[in-house]
Amino acid sequence: MSRIVYVNGAYLPEEEATISIFDRGFIFGDGIYEVSAVLGGKLVDCEAHLARLERSAGEIGLELPCSRAELVAIHQELISRNNLDEGSIYLQVSRGAADRDFPFPKGVKASLVLFTQARQFANTPLAKTGIKVVSTPDLRWARRDIKSVNLLAPVLAKQFAAENGAQEAWMIEDGVVTEGASSTAWIVKGKTLISRPLSHKVLPGITRTAVLAFLAESGFTFEEREFTLEEALDAEEAFITSATSLVMPVTTIDGHSIHNGAPGPATIRLREIYLDHARKGGVLG
Ligand code: PDD
Repeated sequence: MSRIVYVNGAYLPEEEATISIFDRGFIFGDGIYEVSAVLGGKLVDCEAHLARLERSAGEIGLELPCSRAELVAIHQELISRNNLDEGSIYLQVSRGAADRDFPFPKGVKASLVLFTQARQFANTPLAKTGIKVVSTPDLRWARRDIKSVNLLAPVLAKQFAAENGAQEAWMIEDGVVTEGASSTAWIVKGKTLISRPLSHKVLPGITRTAVLAFLAESGFTFEEREFTLEEALDAEEAFITSATSLVMPVTTIDGHSIHNGAPGPATIRLREIYLDHARKGGVLG
């Protein structure tokens, strides 16, 4: 059975859903997106994802076509129409369809598309083995805090990872790790979790915020600072967070094993706590 997707006000089978070839998301990458996890049929931290969407929209002067409550309702409707138990929901808003001209078009309504992607990620075998990461230069633009659909640099980084038998790329700039191509990068030393500060250089991960929200419960402390690739190679543990990987151990970087090459206790514990919260709808609302 094909999926039911949402496009500009209509719920349609995916084969019937269309977007104009003049859509500015397609022509200019003039759009933003969000990816929210669904576990046990429940949306995880959806409000926090939508708050970030509103922020991204504000930063690029894009008027969202519907309210937050309407967006939540569309997410719920897609879960129910597709019987989605586990996976994610992708949401994209672009500045609409207009004849090709760079400045914002006048009187054009934003395009809104949402679709589900079913995937088992709570019990994925990768969580037991950990993932492989490769490092690559960070080729992205200067406003990575905006969740823009311009994803050519991450596409190239992920392809480089895939060609080298890895699942994620850690991007390097000015001698430090910025983040994963589609995830936040962390290392662990003793009882301390380390991840870089938020700025225009990285996306403010919702899963990152969730992990920090249950820090006290987890028994870890947080040191917000940059780290180098060399420090990561020497760390006791490394992991990534994102709506599609949740909390995922990193066991090799550029072919070097992290510690003994197996997922470490801190990452395993953080993943367990995160999953417990996620199954109840998340930590942040
Ligand atoms: N990516 N950093 C980047 C560059 C990302 O693309 C993502 C998420 C994250 C983690 O953010 P969050 O915890 O809110 O998922 C960090 C999504 C999952 C994607 O593009 O598929």
